[in-house]
Amino acid sequence: MSLRSAVLDAGYRSVLRPALFRSHGGDPELIHESLIALLGGLNPTARSMLRLLSGRPTSPVTVAGVRFPGRVGVAAGLDKDARAVEAWSALGFGFAELGTVTALAQPGNDKPRLYRLRDSRAIINRMGFNNAGAKAMADRLYELGVQRGELTCGIPLGISLGKSKVTSVADAVPDYVASLRMLAPYADYIAINVSSPNTPGLRSLQEGDLLRDLLSSLTREASQITHPLGPVPIFVKIAPDMSDAQLDHLLGVVADNGGRGIIATNTTLGRDGLAAADRVYADQAGGLSGAPLTARALEVVSRITASTTLPVIGVGGIMTPDDAERMIDAGARLIQLYTGFIYSGTGLVAGINALSLGRTT
Ligand SMILES: Cc1cc2nc3c(=O)[nH]c(=O)nc-3n(C[C@H](O)[C@H](O)[C@H](O)COP(=O)(O)O)c2cc1C
Repeated sequence: MSLRSAVLDAGYRSVLRPALFRSHGGDPELIHESLIALLGGLNPTARSMLRLLSGRPTSPVTVAGVRFPGRVGVAAGLDKDARAVEAWSALGFGFAELGTVTALAQPGNDKPRLYRLRDSRAIINRMGFNNAGAKAMADRLYELGVQRGELTCGIPLGISLGKSKVTSVADAVPDYVASLRMLAPYADYIAINVSSPNTPGLRSLQEGDLLRDLLSSLTREASQITHPLGPVPIFVKIAPDMSDAQLDHLLGVVADNGGRGIIATNTTLGRDGLAAADRVYADQAGGLSGAPLTARALEVVSRITASTTLPVIGVGGIMTPDDAERMIDAGARLIQLYTGFIYSGTGLVAGINALSLGRTT
């Protein structure tokens, strides 16, 4: 562990995290909202100070034609409406995946819908794509002057697209296409989220014909949007709860229909690995993330990299720099954090950046 990450880690765990987790009556969603508002409200001087403290991304890599200054990124769901988009590079992240955003603004599921499982270093969420909609995100990114390929916020930005809840699975294609049209000018890559467990029917879009239709329509649409960099690369984000046969089939469909990579994995419906004190949460509906997902996400990534040349963004249960290293060793070209960032803060980002990953491709 580097000195910087040790200091940040100790500061977060002993001072900031206890205060943060106690604020807003301990309501995890309110705490999240206020943190995002705080980060989004930082002025350039405050961001520069944060950058000095957090350190810069290291070990750049080019994936799907996009140059990433660092390997560790913000996972989808942390910044659903691009509120804190200017702050992520100052926290040491090498990219950020915004969203998931849907074509239509929607409130998400009823609250409470977010649970912190402290002893398990985990989260259960059933947010249900609460977001202000693709148009609002496009307006926000336009106002910030974001343009694909320009690194306006210092790092590449992915944008994660989901299906609006009121849209049926049968009408999913035009729904995703509408979002792609609005957001492609701002995105360095697009992630198709077909793996959230919290929108009824969404995961069925991972299956053969439905995924083929969706991906081929989106890649066709992307190829019709003229840009000096060519069509925006499209990644598919998958669930950890597929059988090997389902996964192998999906990989074939992605490769054959213009997908440029896989993001593995989303949260799990499984409830293995919960600490005794957290078993009371096991019946809460939603997706489980964090430490109980580490082994399964690594297994899925290993299977993908063993059987295809599609680049993989590894995500799921990366709670320590060692977890990050194992994910990279399993062949992930990039990694993302959500739950690990909540429990360990920017020290984890600095710790991963300090790893001499030694790969420059
Ligand atoms: C509260 C919460 C909200 C999330 N929202 C999204 C989302 O909108 N889109 C998405 O693709 N993944 C979403 N995720 C999944 C994360 O991006 C990530 O794939 C998953 O949590 C596993 O990584 P982790 O163990 O580092 O958290 C969400 C996760 C959490 C905990």
